[in-house]
Amino acid sequence: MQIVKHPNPTSADERAKRMLDPGFGKVFTDHMVTIRWSEGQGWHDAQIGPRQPFQIDPAASVLHYAQEIFEGMKAYRSGNAVTLFRPLENAARFARSAERLAMPVLPDDLFIAAVEALVRTDADWIPDQDGASLYLRPFMFANESFLGVRAATEYMFCVIASPAGAYFKGGAKPVKLWVSDDYTRAAPGGTGAAKCGGNYAASLVAQQQAVAKGCDQVVFLDAAEHRWVEELGGMNMFFVFDDNTLRTPPLGTILPGITRASILILAAEQGLKVEQAPYDIDSWKADAASGRLKEAFACGTAAVVAAVGEIRWTGGEQLVGGGVEGPVTTALRDELTGIQRGSRDDRHNWRHTITL
Ligand code: PLP
Ligand code: COI
Repeated sequence: MQIVKHPNPTSADERAKRMLDPGFGKVFTDHMVTIRWSEGQGWHDAQIGPRQPFQIDPAASVLHYAQEIFEGMKAYRSGNAVTLFRPLENAARFARSAERLAMPVLPDDLFIAAVEALVRTDADWIPDQDGASLYLRPFMFANESFLGVRAATEYMFCVIASPAGAYFKGGAKPVKLWVSDDYTRAAPGGTGAAKCGGNYAASLVAQQQAVAKGCDQVVFLDAAEHRWVEELGGMNMFFVFDDNTLRTPPLGTILPGITRASILILAAEQGLKVEQAPYDIDSWKADAASGRLKEAFACGTAAVVAAVGEIRWTGGEQLVGGGVEGPVTTALRDELTGIQRGSRDDRHNWRHTITL
């Protein structure tokens, strides 16, 4: 990978100022990775260069038909060590998203090398305050200038990085969820399991409704029966019952979250009965009211583990777990973040160390 250093990098003072309270997705590092793909040449021109705007033709197919996929992952600093969490899972999901969107597959080793190289180049931007990390956003888009509807013959892969704190403004406060009754996120045979921009575009109007109802995130139900809980706009869902069961909706039309997969393993180790099974919205409301449902939480790379304190829907609302975070949610978050940040035993070899 060719490395072209930024001629005018952010000063140490300015960087420290921006990293003090970065929020999520607003502060960016000085560099980015770009790798091009074309039908004739395959992957080529891999480089780290100054982070800068793309020059993009107005007919570039991504602007018209949304052929775009992305990933979300974090780099953590603990002492002198910098680590990623299960990055091969991100590489594998990126490859599956590419296949679903008829895009070229970036080999896993190139994906990892690109992410590692950016983390090394911009290592000064990895925050070390509690709960903060360097959020990494690998993505790929079609940039052939052509208006016919077919898979493009040219693509750009890119990785950018963003020092990040808590995803939700309220920090660790339990979140409120809005149950969307008129929009769905994904249908069987659609792109729900792929991490493509179009899924998020389709979720935004429902997310706006959620915000208008005083909620943090939208809950999507299945497209066929409009009954089964799928996931949130940007997170997977878990439910904790009074018989020590932890349930999460099955894979299929939802995004196969890496946090979700990790929690399933950690929860079983903590002695919970773990199940991937459908859960319907009427049961959620009734079980939250009766107390059979003890806790609910959402999880994802950006949000980590967020307790759900309340659900609202057209014509009603219901506290979940009394509106406060429960002990199972806390224990799972502590275990997951402990492994990610190196304070707990990494018995599954999930930490991927980057030598600076
Ligand atoms: N579901 C959706 C729709 C998401 O956008 C995300 C975030 O990436 C997740 C679930 C959680 O996935 P992960 O745990 O791999 O970040
Ligand atoms: C992530 O968790 O990495 C995502 O991509 C989800 C998005 C809500 C930021």
